[in-house]
Amino acid sequence: MNEKRVDLFDEWAETYDESVSGYEGFPFEGYDEVLGEIARAADPRAGMLVLDLGIGTGRLAARFLEAGCSVWGLDFSVKMLAKAHERLPQVELIKADVLGDWPIDRDKRFDRVVSGYVLHEFDLDSKVRLISRLVNQHLSPSGRMVVGDISFETAAEREAAKKRWSGSWDEARQKWQGSLWDEDEHYWAADEAKRALSGLSLRVEYRQVSFCGGVYVIQPAIASE
Ligand SMILES: C[S@@+](CC[C@H](N)C(=O)[O-])C[C@H]1O[C@@H](n2cnc3c(N)ncnc32)[C@H](O)[C@@H]1O
Repeated sequence: MNEKRVDLFDEWAETYDESVSGYEGFPFEGYDEVLGEIARAADPRAGMLVLDLGIGTGRLAARFLEAGCSVWGLDFSVKMLAKAHERLPQVELIKADVLGDWPIDRDKRFDRVVSGYVLHEFDLDSKVRLISRLVNQHLSPSGRMVVGDISFETAAEREAAKKRWSGSWDEARQKWQGSLWDEDEHYWAADEAKRALSGLSLRVEYRQVSFCGGVYVIQPAIASE
């Protein structure tokens, strides 16, 4: 477990909601719309079992509870989990590292696996391994995974955004503002991700929601839904 990242999210838990909702600019522009698109694309129905990876304060999970789903949420930050519990006491919460061992029965299957603004923590190979593990072990055969995150249509667009947001001139304040582009994070590019996932017998669809946020719908190629 990356203790530095855990500390960062523990510290952020108290102010997280107000810092992302309605945010303008990189990296959270369109945050509320991205969560809305995850819920729409997941098409939740009453009785479905849903796993939310990196549940945070529970903003995405709330939409699935409203639809009558049973929700499990996984996160490595105790403070984020406490916020999620406060908001959604009925969610089954699991403290674990997304990339580590999970205290979930090996063959437990979910109708939907969803995640909002988490997988950019992991490099492309780790994302592919994680998605493969989830689809093979924890997604029901007719299920789907829906991931919303900081993402661009192409690697070229991501490169252009990197230039734009790695320190920039703030017209209003008439001064340079610091870099919002975190070199330790791994923002998605849909063309690159689709190529990397192409060997896994999956159907992958992508929708750009804001200039820096998008949603992936990932299903086994044979899924009937
Ligand atoms: C930016 S927040 C997103 C929270 C929520 N999904 C949302 O959309 O508002 C990222 C969340 O993922 C969790 N997280 C990041 N890396 C993780 C990891 N390796 N294992 C478990 N949780 C992780 C953080 O603790 C945090 O709660």
